[in-house]
Amino acid sequence: MAVKIAVIGGTGVYDPEILSDLREETVSTSYGAVPLKIGRYDGREVAFMTRHGADHSVPPHLVNYRANIAALRQLGVQSILATAAVGSLNLEMAPRHFVLVDQFLDFTKGRPSTFVEQGVVHLDMTEPYCPELRRYLRQAAGELGLTCHPAGTYVCTEGPRFETPAEIKMFKMLGGDLVGMTSVPEVVLAREAGICYATVAMVTNYAAGISPGKLSHQEVVDIMTDNGANLRRLLMRAIALLPQERDCACRRALEEPVAVSEKK
Ligand code: HPA
Repeated sequence: MAVKIAVIGGTGVYDPEILSDLREETVSTSYGAVPLKIGRYDGREVAFMTRHGADHSVPPHLVNYRANIAALRQLGVQSILATAAVGSLNLEMAPRHFVLVDQFLDFTKGRPSTFVEQGVVHLDMTEPYCPELRRYLRQAAGELGLTCHPAGTYVCTEGPRFETPAEIKMFKMLGGDLVGMTSVPEVVLAREAGICYATVAMVTNYAAGISPGKLSHQEVVDIMTDNGANLRRLLMRAIALLPQERDCACRRALEEPVAVSEKK
């Protein structure tokens, strides 16, 4: 059976717990080899990948985003549900709330961020995060009674350091709601590959200067772990709601999705 759905687990989401009949695979791509797990949920094959490696050892600026998305594309994945721990710039988006990101502001600096190596290719980014996947996630959150904001602008920083309060003030003035270090280029690469992509962000803290104290990675991990069961319930309910065939424009984001699967 084809693997059409994948979960990319971010900080605090390391275990595909709910999947059964798990098997491990390493997919080799022209960008590197990617270990992942494939299992079953609700009669479907689902791939599970940890963004930062199995032992959370790869920092956000060094994640091999191209290899990760190329591997999922090679498996035939059509829809990616990604998790993200985020800081909040918006007082209405409080710690433990979920946000279905709909826009991003890119403040990354030195990451390989495209599969395009030749030709003039300009990808439409009007709806970077798949509106259909977001709709199913929203429905799932409603059914489960979780606090979930249907939209939010994610500011992606280079990391690995946290932001200064001055940067956060600037991001807020620019319209940012959330801040994190990984959604770009992941969402861009998925779009280039013609894969539907949605991010379920979980707020772990108010951002620097808004939070009363200093920020720590441990605080982020603690909140993710504490509310991890709700995140898993949300993902699994959304997967159960997904139709067998997708019905949105993501697969045609580029007339010809950029070739990502051939191994050099
Ligand atoms: N900044 C950047 N990334 C983050 C934060 C933050 O405050 N919280 C969780 N991931």
